[in-house]
Amino acid sequence: MSTALAPASATSEAARAAAGILQDNWGGAYTVPATGLYPHQWSWDSAFIAVGLRHLSARRAQVELDSLLSGQWSDGRLPQIVYDTRRDDDYAPSATFWRSADLPGSPAVPTTGLVQPPVHAWAAWLVHSQDPDESARRRFLERAYPRLVAWHRYLEDRRASDDGLVAVVHPWESGTDNSPLWDEVLAGVPDEPRAAMHRPDLKHASEGERPSGKEYGKYFWLAERYRDHACDDADPGHPFVVDDPTTNALWARSELALGDIAEVLGLDGAPHRSRAARIAEALEGLWDPDLEIYVALDRRSGDQVRKATVGGLLPLLAPGILPPGRSDALLRTALGPRFLDVASTSRPLMAPSYDATAPDMDPELYWRGPAWFNMMWLLLEGLRAHGLDDLADRYVEPMARVASREGFPEYVDPWTGAGHGTRAFSWTAALVLDLVAGREGRP
Ligand code: SER
Repeated sequence: MSTALAPASATSEAARAAAGILQDNWGGAYTVPATGLYPHQWSWDSAFIAVGLRHLSARRAQVELDSLLSGQWSDGRLPQIVYDTRRDDDYAPSATFWRSADLPGSPAVPTTGLVQPPVHAWAAWLVHSQDPDESARRRFLERAYPRLVAWHRYLEDRRASDDGLVAVVHPWESGTDNSPLWDEVLAGVPDEPRAAMHRPDLKHASEGERPSGKEYGKYFWLAERYRDHACDDADPGHPFVVDDPTTNALWARSELALGDIAEVLGLDGAPHRSRAARIAEALEGLWDPDLEIYVALDRRSGDQVRKATVGGLLPLLAPGILPPGRSDALLRTALGPRFLDVASTSRPLMAPSYDATAPDMDPELYWRGPAWFNMMWLLLEGLRAHGLDDLADRYVEPMARVASREGFPEYVDPWTGAGHGTRAFSWTAALVLDLVAGREGRP
């Protein structure tokens, strides 16, 4: 990896191309993650997209989040997908599969019943901070704050247990669908859904870059079961209930952001900060002292799933509230051979999604090894939160270059940067834009 700053032209060229992709994927009120593979509005995608869009138009970034928030259910959940019904045949499961209108508390727009990691409050804070005047003029935070509070309340009331952590009830909810973290729990899930399964995704990405047919069978089976229990989180026999490190780390980080938002609105931020501290404390239940990383926990068996994934590093985002020594251990893991491998001459361009030293690591298969721009962006934010700005800055130019060279791919081989999955992927574009803008904004 080159440590020299790139000539301004390489990064500005990447930023220009990124802006073009966000324009092409903009549908008037939100940005699709990719026009073919993901033709609706996705929850955590929109949050990451808003973080990049704020550099092009603070207003458009606000509209992106407003639009997602308009899909909120009366119980506070923010759905994983808000559907564009004109594209019902283009993605599965579709709006017709979920039939959200039949369920109590669903919004006017069709959505899934599942959720995704809660990065939204933090994104709203970043969007606000980009142009506080425009935000105040449009009363952006006044509108967003109560909805974001309701969203976090849903997580706490419906998804957290005595262990103080939020569980995901489907691999799609983690955003890291086929992560090795879910293998053991999925082993007990049937792989034959009742309804016929369609795979429009295979028209847009090759089979070897998507979850397998067997995994899809399990995903559909779990989605049917959740839907058929009215998406009410009260199904004692649901076989997939897992504490996910990514979801919980982002929940803590977003609670800190809610504290900042509350204070701008003249409210008390302290309850949000206390909640963030409680989540950080609860995260100790996911700490693996041998791997020195946060792992997942299968709520049904009570067992940890002891695998090192990039999401297990994300508590780096909340340094002040981790127990003493945790940050040091976590940084050792982040910078060591499993992820950034900074001391090696064969270090990757970006952190792999799964332990580089694991025998089953696959650098081309979705969440089983490739590097993703959102995870790397989060990890770099975690490094910055620990004062490692110089190190974080060194990744910006190579990432922008690879994204640009590969057509803003969904994910890349961590070492070669070869692109995989779909191209012109919105969060890749948005986060490259944010990284470039951030670096240029620093002296
Ligand atoms: N990542 C999922 C998919 O591939 C959706 O959230 O369809």
